[in-house]
Amino acid sequence: MTGYPTAHFVEGPLAAGPDPVGAQPAVAIRVEKLRKTYGDVEALAGVTFEVRAGEIFGVLGPNGAGKTTLIEILEGLRLAESGAAAVLGVDVPKHLDSIRDRIGIAMQKMALPPLLTVQETVRLYAVIYPDSQRPDELIRSLGLEEKRHTLIRHLSGGQLQRLTVALALVGNPHILFLDEPTSELDPQGRRALWDILLDPQKRPGRTVVLTTHQMEEAQHLCNRVAILDHGHILAMGSPSDLIDQYCPRTTLEDVFLHLTGRRIRD
Ligand SMILES: Nc1ncnc2c1ncn2[C@@H]1O[C@H](COP(=O)(O)OP(=O)(O)OP(=O)(O)O)[C@@H](O)[C@H]1O
Ligand SMILES: [Mg+2]
Repeated sequence: MTGYPTAHFVEGPLAAGPDPVGAQPAVAIRVEKLRKTYGDVEALAGVTFEVRAGEIFGVLGPNGAGKTTLIEILEGLRLAESGAAAVLGVDVPKHLDSIRDRIGIAMQKMALPPLLTVQETVRLYAVIYPDSQRPDELIRSLGLEEKRHTLIRHLSGGQLQRLTVALALVGNPHILFLDEPTSELDPQGRRALWDILLDPQKRPGRTVVLTTHQMEEAQHLCNRVAILDHGHILAMGSPSDLIDQYCPRTTLEDVFLHLTGRRIRD
């Protein structure tokens, strides 16, 4: 229901588990030769990369490229066939339990309790975490103040998406995973989220991994991006370096189309 495997739920605040490499390793995420297939479809073909602590890292790619598969393996929600993934220095999903209070997740599709209000839901999540943000401040910063007593079943798509992001943020996570967090947002909502993600006071040392189909957004937000297609990383680097390397004096969208082609995906 929430994106966390229910088997890992404990009563009361999440217990902080052991952290073999300290509170905040310099490399937040390490992925090596990660492979995942669904029948004949090779969703991830052995990807290798690192995400540094504190950076905003974008996973870009056409529909079906493998972005959600990758991000959900890192969240401990899907199992890879082979390869390894370490988040905050621990293997996932093996030691997910020891870090789950330090990761925030906004899934691409996420079911929330339809008969709770916005405020009830954010408050409910806030009590679970040892270091949570004030629910009412978070509700305000995501522009949901007027909807705080509205049932989730009555939210619009964009309002629901903003709530999903609020729930990912409420535990003050060290790593924030956002799978297409702005796909349903209006320009105001998108800018509000950009401000939250870019404000250093709101994310001291926080690592963000996000997916988006909006190249302008990726160019604006991300320190580095990986461009994925058919489960392979085609290119990785800062948006400006990729532009210089592949399509000088253009945009990240031109680089994306140059690398992944113009054919519409199945
Ligand atoms: N549970 C599943 N069972 C079977 N095939 C799946 C499953 N999940 C994903 N796939 C397939 O794996 C490939 C990668 O899917 P994935 O959802 O990771 O792509 P994506 O990059 O997130 O795409 P989008 O931009 O549309 O969200 C696709 O071909 C998809 O059809
Ligand atoms: Mg996806």
